[in-house]
Amino acid sequence: MIRREFIKNSALAGLAFSQPAGSFIIPSQTKKYRTVIIGAGWWGNNILGEAMASGACDIVGVCDVDQNLVDETVERVEKLMGNRPKKYTDYRELLHDLKPDIAIIATPEHWHALQTIEALKTGCHVYVEKPIAHTINEGKAIVAAQKKYGKVIQVGLHRRTSPHIIKGQQMLRNGEVGDVKMIKACVYSRTTETMVKPTDNPPEYLDWDLYLGPAAYQAYEPSVHPRGFRKYLNMTNGTIGDWGVHWMDQILWWSEEQYPKKIYSTGGMVNPGCGYDAPDYQSATFDFDNFIVEWEHRRLGGSGSEKSPVGTYFYGTKGVMFLGFYDGATFYPNDRDKEPVHIEHGMHDPDGQNIKELWQDFLEAIEGKKQPVAGIESSHRATTMSLLAMISYKTGRQILWDGEAEMILDDPEALSLMQREYREPWEYPEINS
Ligand SMILES: NC(=O)c1ccc[n+]([C@@H]2O[C@H](COP(=O)([O-])OP(=O)(O)OC[C@H]3O[C@@H](n4cnc5c(N)ncnc54)[C@H](O)[C@@H]3O)[C@@H](O)[C@H]2O)c1
Repeated sequence: MIRREFIKNSALAGLAFSQPAGSFIIPSQTKKYRTVIIGAGWWGNNILGEAMASGACDIVGVCDVDQNLVDETVERVEKLMGNRPKKYTDYRELLHDLKPDIAIIATPEHWHALQTIEALKTGCHVYVEKPIAHTINEGKAIVAAQKKYGKVIQVGLHRRTSPHIIKGQQMLRNGEVGDVKMIKACVYSRTTETMVKPTDNPPEYLDWDLYLGPAAYQAYEPSVHPRGFRKYLNMTNGTIGDWGVHWMDQILWWSEEQYPKKIYSTGGMVNPGCGYDAPDYQSATFDFDNFIVEWEHRRLGGSGSEKSPVGTYFYGTKGVMFLGFYDGATFYPNDRDKEPVHIEHGMHDPDGQNIKELWQDFLEAIEGKKQPVAGIESSHRATTMSLLAMISYKTGRQILWDGEAEMILDDPEALSLMQREYREPWEYPEINS
């Protein structure tokens, strides 16, 4: 039986537990940021809650292609803040009418590039969800636009502000884990045997055409919304592009943002006739100069079969550091005379997150006090790792990556998958937009 040493780090414990929702008010805050939300679904409303609790934001506009969600979110804001934000279905109208200071973007990721760039152009600071893009060149275009318009982007990689992760990262950097040569990141979940049946009959309250936007046309089916877009590669990049980006970000954070040179991925579907195409199981290997990374995802087997179903293991010469989710972080020393060091998670409910801390960091970056902890460049690199694995998955070949030039080498077909055709009238963003 493993005995655990529970670290009582007062600063970390304070960060995690002594800040009830609503108490995170910036001292001497006089200006209220006129804030809007684009994508008022599950995660968008989690972010919106922290924006309201910060005391620094007035919520002036709500946009979603689902009219019911717009109505519900406006009711929520009115109840908590006393004002009724304006309602929008089209994000372009919202941005151009209201010219807000801050835009929260929590739509499915096939929208992130167009909406983030439009928000930057209209003068907003942007809090956009991960993954930052659906194809690599979209990510490059966002990075270029951020440089051009000079606004702050915070990406929703809230694990950068999770107390247990920060402490685990410190231990990795201090050399307590030794020389790390191998890293494994994983997400395991229960078997799902979903068959999807397109109806092409979207509900009246949902603007399906504007939901799809630049993605290729696909018939509506009831499980796609809310949250079910994750099943379709037309709108996402599978679990590695969703959950995986959090862990790729941790790996790059530790490695000071190096990039892999060779990437190979394979995987598949439990039932290829199910009607969706995001892989149910997938592995990927990333070759860096001095270490290798393995990714493993599977939606196979009963829940509880894996001790830690979600997390990243750093294998070093002095032991193993595990950075996890609700199971916190644990260092397992090689030296058997030493006890494992356990750090409890310090995340908030609902949904195990540290958005409160990330939002605070965002506001401080807007005030010019610091760079955002999950800024666009590092988040682009983390997203790119996942997207490269998906290009390998799609082509069935190893990808050679020139991370300086951000180009795939010696493989025109794979290179072409750094971009995709947009459905008219949407136009793929220019890298120098
Ligand atoms: N950081 C995290 O830990 C975390 C956790 C969950 C989700 N997310 C991210 O948040 C994003 C949203 O995921 P979700 O689970 O909340 O999904 P969701 O389906 O609940 O919400 C997405 C919303 O976007 C809306 N939408 C679609 N197209 C739109 C458009 N053109 N304009 C305005 N609204 C539009 C949908 O109607 C939906 O309400 C994704 O990028 C996801 O990866 C991040």
